[in-house]
Amino acid sequence: MNKTRKFFALLFFVALIQTGRINAQPLKKVVNDAFDFAEQQSLIMAKKYEDQQGTLPKSFENGKDVSSDSRWWCSGFFPGSLWYIFEHSQNQDVLKYAKLYTDRVEREKYTTDNHDVGFMLYCSFGNGLRITGEERYKEVLLTGAKSLATRFDPKVGLIRSWDHNTEVWQYPVIIDNLMNLELMLWAADYSKDESFRKIAISHADKTMQHHFRPDYSSYHVVSYDRKTGVPHKKQTHQGTSDDSAWSRGQAWGLYGYTYLYRETKDKRYLAQAMHIADFLINHPRMPKDFIPYWDYDAPQIPNTPRDASAAALMASALTELSDFVDAQSKKKYMQVVETQIRTLASEEYTSKLGENGAFILKHSTGAYPLKSEVDVPLTYADYYYLEALTRLKKRL
Ligand code: GLY
Repeated sequence: MNKTRKFFALLFFVALIQTGRINAQPLKKVVNDAFDFAEQQSLIMAKKYEDQQGTLPKSFENGKDVSSDSRWWCSGFFPGSLWYIFEHSQNQDVLKYAKLYTDRVEREKYTTDNHDVGFMLYCSFGNGLRITGEERYKEVLLTGAKSLATRFDPKVGLIRSWDHNTEVWQYPVIIDNLMNLELMLWAADYSKDESFRKIAISHADKTMQHHFRPDYSSYHVVSYDRKTGVPHKKQTHQGTSDDSAWSRGQAWGLYGYTYLYRETKDKRYLAQAMHIADFLINHPRMPKDFIPYWDYDAPQIPNTPRDASAAALMASALTELSDFVDAQSKKKYMQVVETQIRTLASEEYTSKLGENGAFILKHSTGAYPLKSEVDVPLTYADYYYLEALTRLKKRL
């Protein structure tokens, strides 16, 4: 950064502090306060649905609670959030609810009609196992991994994401699907069955080959020819156009190749994650507070919603990525993370106690072009925010 840019960045930061949009407390206090608030808010949420068997929070729209059963791809995030809060505070009440809501997702271990099994089970049962060592959770995760593996076609070399729109897509794979590979890698380590790892690596490699553009932005949907395994369509579903950089998709990619490097130590994945990080951090339409608009190419920028979930995902991924890189890159990533966390923890993004449907964060965007979940709280924004806080706390 040259001197003038540094000066204006500093001026902007000071202005944010003065307007109360960024918390000027030490970062450690910001993190601890954020956890304290998350605990109180999430206990309100947990109690709200306690007696509604099978129900999980989904969002809060037009002043009303929106819930789902375990079939919704996000069912594992609220239990996962409770696990992160329990890990921080050891509050036994939170533990009780973490177990309760985790069990509500168990039946998804038999899901074979979509790719979201990894999201659903690894965030809930995966965290539960990591934190408590509960033996029973292992069977759930392994059964889930076997279900997910049924969606891998060796001719194509990837796990199929969706079964709908077959008249347009022969074999659709979305960038989000990278997130499900962590369950496969866990299953390989646990069961010693290397076929799980082969599936994960094949999927990661083909995604790297076909989902990314020369500038390291990514397509949302790549559909493959079922016979040849070659892409026949590259499109969007939740972004502004086929060629745009849909913000959450970019963050899924960053997060995916970061943990793939952690798990495999394959330097290609590290390079990929660093390239994606650079694309995002240096993007001309990345706001100064590093909370992305819902699509970096949305024509309405700056008059269009942000996506706090993409920021939370980025913060979590960059915190982990900073462990694997040179000192200069680490500093750059952690400055971004600090700005994101301070912004998300500020009044602008954090709810008030008991408000916003008892979600922690405001201002996420699910699918803007589908007019679905626009500028609302979402379970995965809260989940990756808490994960980012957890990772940050360990490094402070
Ligand atoms: N995996 C769906 C989404 O990111 O909206």
